[in-house]
Amino acid sequence: MARLLLVLVATTMLLLAAGATAQQHGCENATFQAGRSFERCHTLPVLEASLYWTYHAANGTAEIAFRAQSNATGWVAWGINPSASGGMAGSNVFVASLGGSGAVSVLTTILKTTSPTLDNTTLSFAVPVPPTAEYAAGAYTIYVTVALPGNSTQQNTVWQAGPLSGGAIMAHLMSGPNLQSVKRQDFLSG
Ligand SMILES: *[C@@H]1O[C@H](CO)[C@@H](O)[C@H](O)[C@H]1NC(C)=O
Ligand SMILES: *[C@@H]1O[C@H](CO)[C@@H](O)[C@H](O)[C@H]1NC(C)=O
Ligand SMILES: *[C@@H]1O[C@H](CO)[C@@H](O)[C@H](O)[C@H]1NC(C)=O
Ligand SMILES: *[C@@H]1O[C@H](CO)[C@@H](O)[C@H](O)[C@H]1NC(C)=O
Ligand SMILES: *[C@@H]1O[C@H](CO)[C@@H](O)[C@H](O)[C@H]1NC(C)=O
Repeated sequence: MARLLLVLVATTMLLLAAGATAQQHGCENATFQAGRSFERCHTLPVLEASLYWTYHAANGTAEIAFRAQSNATGWVAWGINPSASGGMAGSNVFVASLGGSGAVSVLTTILKTTSPTLDNTTLSFAVPVPPTAEYAAGAYTIYVTVALPGNSTQQNTVWQAGPLSGGAIMAHLMSGPNLQSVKRQDFLSG
């Protein structure tokens, strides 16, 4: 009995250790639909999200996947703010949400203020491939190809998560991690 308990304790500790490692470097072994793969990844500091990308210097584009944990009545978003100030206002964002049919749609919009109207509009930088998204295993993944604004590999990025109500995108929380989801992203390193 004592031996069995010891084995159980040891196994639990191993599992906990494995879990902790996976959380720290969780982005490395991610897999994507349609055999997609990305050269680099970065586990984002908040909102259980990760960014994956392949940067093409020759044409200044990045193929990107943004993956974030969410329940099925939540939405997630990722975007770039080409203005020097960064932050929410001025960000060009891709918002993924699950419809009643189980299909995930992507809305692209420029956030003009911090309480924006979410029109599905053209962004201020080129999006050469139409964005797509999926919802699987409790996470959204948004696939985006962009011409990095100003052909710069350093960009102010934002990401977010919030609730849906009857399929409509509702405001995200205005506290804690939801206000920490900004990052100066380097598309060359990572
Ligand atoms: C990713 O896969 C490699 C090779 O199988 C493995 O050594 C590594 O521990 C894995 N990383 C994570 C975070 O699971
Ligand atoms: C950019 O270049 C890469 C690598 O050559 C290529 O795969 C990709 O299709 C190009 N993207 C665009 C939008 O032309
Ligand atoms: C973007 O910058 C790279 C060098 O970093 C250059 O080789 C490439 O021609 C530029 N692309 C565009 C579309 O300006
Ligand atoms: C936004 O417009 C694009 C292009 O017309 C479309 O494919 C996409 O489904 C629209 N998104 C939403 C949420 O309506
Ligand atoms: C689903 O997730 C969203 C965003 O994280 C959250 O606001 C909402 O409360 C969650 N809904 C449920 C039913 O847990």
